[in-house]
This record gives sequence, C-alpha cells and structure tokens, in this order.
Amino acid sequence: MSEPSYHPGLEGVIAGETAISTIAGGAGLRYRGYAIEDLAREASFEEVAYLILHGELPAADALGNFCGRLSAAAVPPAELLAFMRSLPHDTPIMDVLRTAASALAHFDPEAADTSHDAQLRKAERLLAQLPTVLAAQWRFGQQQEPVLPDGEKSFAANLLWMLSGTEPTPRLTEAMDVSLTLYAEHEFNASTFTGRVITSTLSDLHSSVAGAIGALKGPLHGGANERVMEVLAEVGSAGNAEPWIRAALAEKRRIMGFGHRVYKEGDPRARFLKPLCQELAAETGHEEMEEMAAVIERIVVEEKGLPPNLDWPSARLYHYMGLDVGVYTPLFVVSRVTGWAAHVIEQMDNNRLIRPRSRYTGPENRDYVPLNERG
Ligand SMILES: CC(C)(COP(=O)(O)OP(=O)(O)OC[C@H]1O[C@@H](n2cnc3c(N)ncnc32)[C@H](O)[C@@H]1OP(=O)(O)O)[C@@H](O)C(=O)NCCC(=O)NCCS
Repeated sequence: MSEPSYHPGLEGVIAGETAISTIAGGAGLRYRGYAIEDLAREASFEEVAYLILHGELPAADALGNFCGRLSAAAVPPAELLAFMRSLPHDTPIMDVLRTAASALAHFDPEAADTSHDAQLRKAERLLAQLPTVLAAQWRFGQQQEPVLPDGEKSFAANLLWMLSGTEPTPRLTEAMDVSLTLYAEHEFNASTFTGRVITSTLSDLHSSVAGAIGALKGPLHGGANERVMEVLAEVGSAGNAEPWIRAALAEKRRIMGFGHRVYKEGDPRARFLKPLCQELAAETGHEEMEEMAAVIERIVVEEKGLPPNLDWPSARLYHYMGLDVGVYTPLFVVSRVTGWAAHVIEQMDNNRLIRPRSRYTGPENRDYVPLNERG
C-alpha cells in the first residue's frame, strides 16, 4: 500500500466540503455567496449572523423574530454570573468565555440534542449569551457591576453599551458592526476545524464551541489582534518604526497581524477595514499610530512580501474606539460563534468522523525491559 502524501499543517489540503463561505482562490471572501464587502457596507451584523446560521438573508419579519429571540436569551443564568464574580479579577476574558461556553450547556435544556433544529436554537442562545458574558467579565475585571443587555439596541450597540454603560455613538456602533461582520466566518480556519472535529465524533454544540474558543485564543489565530497592540506599543512612534521593524525581521521575529495561510496576495477583510480605521484615527486624534502602522506595513511587504491580515487594522480600530486590549480576541469570539455553529450544524448534517493518519517518527520496535533490569 502506498503511503498517503503528507502536508505539514494540512497546508493546501481540502479537508471537507462547505456551503457556508468561500475564500474563492485566495482572492475574495463570500458568506453564502455574498461578498463580504457588500455585507459589511449594507447589512447589519444581525442580518449576517442570520445568513450564516440559516443560509439566507432574512426578510424583515424573520429578522425581527431573530432579534427578539436573541434579546430574550441574552441574560446568562445567575449561577454563571455568580461564578464569574468569584474568579480572580485578572482572569483573561478568553478563558472565561471558554469556561462559559461549556458551563452554559449545563443550563441549556437541549444541550445533548444534536438534531439540526435544536443545534440552531442552541447556536442562537450562545450568540445571545456570550456578549453578555464578555462584557460582564470585563466589568468584573474593572471591579464594576455588569450592565444588563438592552434588547432595544442593535447587537453592536448593545455590546458597547454593556461594556461601558454609556450610550454608544452611531459612529462607534457602525465600526463595531463592520468588524463583527468581517470576523463572523472564514471556512476551515483552525478554530472552525477544531469545532468540526469535535462534532464529527457526534459530540454536542457547546463542546465544539468551547474547543473552538481554545483554538482561537492562540496568537497565530485570533489571539493575534491583541498581540498587534504589543507590537505598536513596542515600536512607540512613527520615527522608530523603520529601525524597529528591520531589526525585528532580521532577528526572524514574527510580526503579528501579517501573513496568512491562504491569502498570499492580501486579506480582503484587511483591505476593506483599512480606510475605516484611517478615518476613525483622524476623528479620534490617532494619526501618529496610523503613520507608524503605515511604515511597518510598507517594510514588512517590502522585506518579506507579507501583506497584513484582518487583525492588523481591527486591533487599531478597537483601540481608536477606546476599547481595552483584553476584549479584542473575545470580540472575535462573539462574532465567530455564528460561523462555528453553522459549521457544526453542517458537519452533523453530513457527518463522517474526522480521523486522519500520522507519519511515525519514533524509535524502531524495541523489546520490553522489566523495571528491575533498567539502569
Ligand atoms: C498566519 C501564519 C501562521 C500563517 O503562516 P504559514 O502559512 O504557516 O506561513 P509560514 O509560517 O510557513 O511562514 C512562511 C515564511 O514567512 C514568515 N512569516 C510568516 N508570517 C510572518 C510574520 N507575521 N512576520 C514575520 N515573518 C513571517 C515565516 O517566518 C516564514 O519565513 P521563512 O520562510 O524565512 O522561514 C503566519 O503568517 C503568522 O504567524 N502570522 C502572524 C500571526 C497572525 O497575524 N495571525 C493571524 C492570522 S489571520
């Protein structure tokens, strides 16, 4: 029997089929056939979440019902909030979201039901609950009480409201809404694939989402948006950008927010977000950070041919919005849960256990040596 071919990191391997999104040969990104640029410009995040989960853009009444279901489910069980309150104040929000995705199963009446319709209902509940968990944990970290969700507000406005307790401006709401749309779905990325692997054993949605959050947390994946701020803080000024970045590249440091496994010519989400990021920088007096980012971008492209990915502008966007760096990757979670859930449902609807092979690199066959004979 011939050895199957080996692709480290599964690079270039088609590991399954999906009707949820396509990266279209590395050139563009579409959710259910719609270009992300059109969705980000025209649709609310709620419409996009509905599209990803249900397969079609909603008519007005379907959207209204969907939003109604989200607001009805938005307050997590008091027991979970009490547990969160008991955690050390500096517990990272990503860790709390991972725990919460798991703990919420204990309170979900359909936790073990993996039928298509039950999974959809659970997905909507998680989409409703996780933003409240995120905001409550952030506020616990600031020694503040949580702000209750406001069902009259949009998903994006409500998130900002629960974080700050103040009425968000339309401009900030728009920026949040666009970023949520761009983060919502991305075919077989590492966290989504993790979720699909878990589902492929016929496990439940909450287990898949908890695993996906664990995968997203790493700095090579979602964790990169927080690390981008570390790079910008280390560089410090536009004047220092060129020597800093050349030295960092010479030392073979990885510059967070650059490079992508699939987009070798550039990430269309980063291209879309850049002008909004620049506008917000000008409106909030952060021109110097944009200047510094432009120098870094030019040199990384020049020296390594690596264009920025979505985390490069989104980290700056969140910074200009006045958000604390500790919420950046968690914000990715509350959006991407739509994509994860859609993939979990798709996997379950047409399941085959995901169980690849490995190439063995260990010792040749060895004879067992009894304990008393080992030196
Ligand atoms: C995303 C990422 C893991 C994809 O990497 P990949 O497809 O596995 O590419 P490789 O790790 O094989 O990198 C290829 C080359 O580019 C370099 N490279 C890749 N990303 C780099 C980065 N961000 N900064 C500096 N060099 C980078 C690698 O060091 C390697 O160089 P070499 O050939 O001289 O050894 C990688 O680009 C990365 O680590 N980026 C930073 C983290 C990040 O922003 N993640 C969010 C992704 S959306």
